[in-house]
Amino acid sequence: MADLVDRVAIVTGGSRGIGRATSLALARAGATVIACARNAERLSSLSAEASDQRSIGKIVTRTLDVTDSTKIEKWVDDIATDFGRIDILVNNAGITRDGLVMNMSDEQFDEVIATNLRGVFQMTRAVSKYMVRARWGRIVNLTSISGIMGNAGQANYSASKAGVIGLTKSVAKELSRRGVTCNAVAPGFINTDMTNVLSEKVKEQVRPLIPLQRFGEPDEVAAAIAFLSSPASSYITGQVIVVDGGLHM
Ligand code: NAI
Repeated sequence: MADLVDRVAIVTGGSRGIGRATSLALARAGATVIACARNAERLSSLSAEASDQRSIGKIVTRTLDVTDSTKIEKWVDDIATDFGRIDILVNNAGITRDGLVMNMSDEQFDEVIATNLRGVFQMTRAVSKYMVRARWGRIVNLTSISGIMGNAGQANYSASKAGVIGLTKSVAKELSRRGVTCNAVAPGFINTDMTNVLSEKVKEQVRPLIPLQRFGEPDEVAAAIAFLSSPASSYITGQVIVVDGGLHM
């Protein structure tokens, strides 16, 4: 599908995992994708990968730390100046700093909130003026089934992801009259660096609980994000689409 031709998309945390798969999926659909992450080195092969896949669109890489609150607005304004528009924002960057609540430090809590929740808010605030002016926009936020169900050892992460759901619904209500939709995607267990830290034993315990009996792949999440970024999702806003092989239902 080439339904994103002439669209400009920002994907945070684009260097690997779900963000990388999303950047490639949006480029295949024709978008000019600005993939960002903290580490320029990790981003370096991404543009070449998009052209190897003969994408109609392209990927441009830029570094950004979404916790760097003083830089976000200017960074987004520069994108709008350089590319002329911002149509799509995928707030994908996210981290875990797991631990039991009794032992969790303030730093562990704050770091996760700053990346997973405040970063989403500040990116959304910065892009929304361009989308409102254009009367068209798609914002897709990565939450998690942990934000819906909670998860032992992830009080900070679950709180941040539940916060993203509240933020998504409020932004959807605020911006809907201006042609901007805002939705969230909630993955379950997906094969990325984030879940690679789990021991084989834990993975073996989790797998039978998933009705589809396997972890998901980044491309399977990217497909849902690409749909919510496209004109095809025009009548969907404020929703949380769960991509988890049926784990939470
Ligand atoms: P990952 O750890 O493989 O990649 C995360 C990306 O975010 C990396 O590109 C990293 O550089 C970037 N990032 C982290 N902190 C950043 C910062 N301060 N500024 C800019 N970029 C930053 O993670 P994965 O698995 O691809 O996760 C993507 C999103 O999906 C996250 O929001 C995560 O919470 C969510 N998710 C992932 C699940 C999984 O099973 N892998 C399950 C549920 C949600």
